[in-house]
Amino acid sequence: MRTDTGQLFRLEDYRPSDYLIPQIHLTFRLARDTTTVVADLTVERRAGTEACAPLVLDGDGLKLKRIELDGYGNPAHEATSGKLVLTNLPEARSFRLLIETELDPDRNKALMGLYRSNGVYCTQCEPEGFRRITYFLDRPDILSVYHVRIEAAKAEAPLLLSNGNPVAGGELGDGWHFAEWHDPHPKPSYLFALVAGDLGCLRDSFTTMSGRTVELAIHVEHGKEKLAAYAMDALKRSMKWDEDAFGREYDLDVFNIVAVSDFNMGAMENKGLNIFNDKYVLADEATATDTDFANIEAIIAHEYFHNWTGNRITCRDWFQLCLKEGLTVFRDHEFSADQRSRGVKRIAEVRTLRALQFPEDQGPLAHPVRPRRYREINNFYTATVYEKGSEVVRMLRTILGAETFRSGMELYFERHDGQACTIEDFLKVFEDASGRDLSQFGLWYNQSGTPNLTIKASYEAGTLTLDIEQSVPPTPSESRKRAMHIPLAFGLIGSDGKETGFTAAEGATVENGVIHVRKRSHKLRFHGVPERPVLSLNRGFSAPVTLAIEQRPEDLAFLVGHDSDPFGRWQAFNTLLTDALIAGYRLLLGGKEANYQKDIAKLAGRIATDATLEPAYRALALTLPSEADIARDIGRDIDPDAVLAARSTLSAFIAAANREPFGKLYEELEDRGPFRPDAASAGRRALRNVVLGYLARLEGGADIAERHYRTATNMTDLIAGLGTLAHEHAGSPRTDAALADFAARHATMPLAMDKWFQIQSTTPGTKALETVRALMRHPAFHIDNPNRVRALLGTFSTGNQTGFHRADGTAYAFFADALLEIDGGNPQLSARLATAFRSWRSLEPARQEKARQALVSIAGANSVSVDLRDIVERSLA
Ligand code: PHE
Ligand code: ZN
Repeated sequence: MRTDTGQLFRLEDYRPSDYLIPQIHLTFRLARDTTTVVADLTVERRAGTEACAPLVLDGDGLKLKRIELDGYGNPAHEATSGKLVLTNLPEARSFRLLIETELDPDRNKALMGLYRSNGVYCTQCEPEGFRRITYFLDRPDILSVYHVRIEAAKAEAPLLLSNGNPVAGGELGDGWHFAEWHDPHPKPSYLFALVAGDLGCLRDSFTTMSGRTVELAIHVEHGKEKLAAYAMDALKRSMKWDEDAFGREYDLDVFNIVAVSDFNMGAMENKGLNIFNDKYVLADEATATDTDFANIEAIIAHEYFHNWTGNRITCRDWFQLCLKEGLTVFRDHEFSADQRSRGVKRIAEVRTLRALQFPEDQGPLAHPVRPRRYREINNFYTATVYEKGSEVVRMLRTILGAETFRSGMELYFERHDGQACTIEDFLKVFEDASGRDLSQFGLWYNQSGTPNLTIKASYEAGTLTLDIEQSVPPTPSESRKRAMHIPLAFGLIGSDGKETGFTAAEGATVENGVIHVRKRSHKLRFHGVPERPVLSLNRGFSAPVTLAIEQRPEDLAFLVGHDSDPFGRWQAFNTLLTDALIAGYRLLLGGKEANYQKDIAKLAGRIATDATLEPAYRALALTLPSEADIARDIGRDIDPDAVLAARSTLSAFIAAANREPFGKLYEELEDRGPFRPDAASAGRRALRNVVLGYLARLEGGADIAERHYRTATNMTDLIAGLGTLAHEHAGSPRTDAALADFAARHATMPLAMDKWFQIQSTTPGTKALETVRALMRHPAFHIDNPNRVRALLGTFSTGNQTGFHRADGTAYAFFADALLEIDGGNPQLSARLATAFRSWRSLEPARQEKARQALVSIAGANSVSVDLRDIVERSLA
């Protein structure tokens, strides 16, 4: 057994580097078996550092071929694959260091550093991949100006790209050529990138607000150029939006995007050369669903927005990751809200936050938005850092108001451009812009756990009293929490459905429709309230908290019809559904049948057919809480089979009560015009496909689903038909025929085959394990490719509650074995997949024990990466 748990890194241990590297000149000679890299560094001793201080450079799996100091060979040094230490350095403050290393990109399956994907050389350096290319001070507070020369065989790599602007290029003889790139903006090593290969290209240009022309290019596999059109459009809209909304202009002559098929994450914001998982670039109606289109738009924007929030202003150290990620997610959320429907977008964001971040915050992997400890930084690209990090920025805007927030952002860009910053720097600009003390607010970055607000309301003689208690639950290594500043947006709604006023409030600050909860408990009194109002609380999800408040079903139904806040309306209906589902679940556990009230089905029918509501909104409202959502709200001792049964019964109940209106709606929503990917068209498809899900539960449902599949003219509908058929009528001959038909039509399209894998791995019930096992041997499945692995194994573990959590524990054991197999090549991927176990303690005892055994078996395996071990050990702790 290997017990390498990795070093523990602590925020309080940060200290500036003794040396700086203001300039680096890199030369790559790319070849299949041996690629050589020559790094010519200008090193500067920091003022105040003693001349005898050693220079310690990071490496990871490197082979040192040559080293020179100020032109002299073999200076005093010690090199291992993980470190290069130089001693007896010159007295002069600045010197040149030349380092030659040798790499084998073909054997790099971890997809960190320089690797080859589908014949294309590409790099991934965030967070610590640059040290797999050359020895360096591989930390984000070392900012260097890069000059890069790439040499390669012309036939293999006609395209040679790096960061910044192209400055030279030409022939070298012997069929080789070269290109040189210069990036004038000093940047940390994690933003370095190189791409070389034979790719097709879609070109366009953008004129910035000051009138400069930027050449835009998206590089994709030959023949797929047209599939980049939507991404290109999204890029131009992003560039314009950042000028309008934040005053940010692009700062190079070119902007390149490359799509690669082997990529661990969504995409990467390398300066001037974004590298994307091809899943988030390639789309047309035949290959991508509406969700894919929306994701492409959001991720193209996200990476582009990093140019200012991340690249021009970067992070001092990796504990500050949320400084760039939380802020940039906030910016891409706002962009999508402006491009699409703000209300619908907000509901979708909250659903994602609850599905991904809440379980993290409420389980063994909980950590603050800005962690203070890590063993493996790759494991901290989490929903907490990204999504909760974005919510914190949103709260800041709510508290300060849009105008003050904007001047704080202006100050941030002005004060910190070109620097590597901390969360303290970020908060300070808002303190300076507003004159407010944000120290209590700062707890949102430092304290983990989802705060809860328990609220009791009473009304008497014109006075509404709210008793508000806040509590932050204990989380790993944080038992006692301080009271947080929680901005709770609210509305008081009168019996006529309009907002009712109040004349005064005491017991907490109330301004602009927001209650500022700052103490553990508040007794808040609103005076001059004309009648007992219905409460709409946490409007727009102004704070990422859970609420415990008794609300009568009739009040919730009233909110569904009357709240002026679309999120509030959606939340009210969602609460009604969740309450019904949990009651049904309890009945089932008690050996009874789940039964539901007519009212809820009626309300569903009313929402479905309310033409004043956007179709996309109606689709979201009618989507029942997922099995995982329900399980989370139940909280403990979960039996996933009973959850599924409760949900299926409610779905069938709603369908039966609305057969006619749903049938009519389904017909009316059919789109006979040409395909359009815009939000309104997507919303209509979404509503029709949700309605299809209900109709498929009724007699004749299989016919409708099959016809839906057969007549579909775009991927969204095709997948909706196939998924409905496969999930509602699993194993039937017509389902098998449709699955075979899809595979035959999409055999050469890996991204489409991912959807096929997903549909099968999420088919409820115990049979799924056998299916997933068999699909791992399918010719379209490749264990080295993260998209394939996530589509089949990732979706199975997170999206199939009854299949993954089958009572006999065999799926856990299977999954543990698969994780170890993946871990041998790609630890980052295995570690991420392993987080599927994070909520194991909320299962019923028998399943808990089986899950625990699977985790223990991973921890005890022969060779486990630091990445995977970190997740497993924290999960077990
Ligand atoms: N920085 C990337 C983003 O959020 C994510 C990423 C992290 C990609 C690490 C690759 C490796 O935009
Ligand atoms: Zn990002």
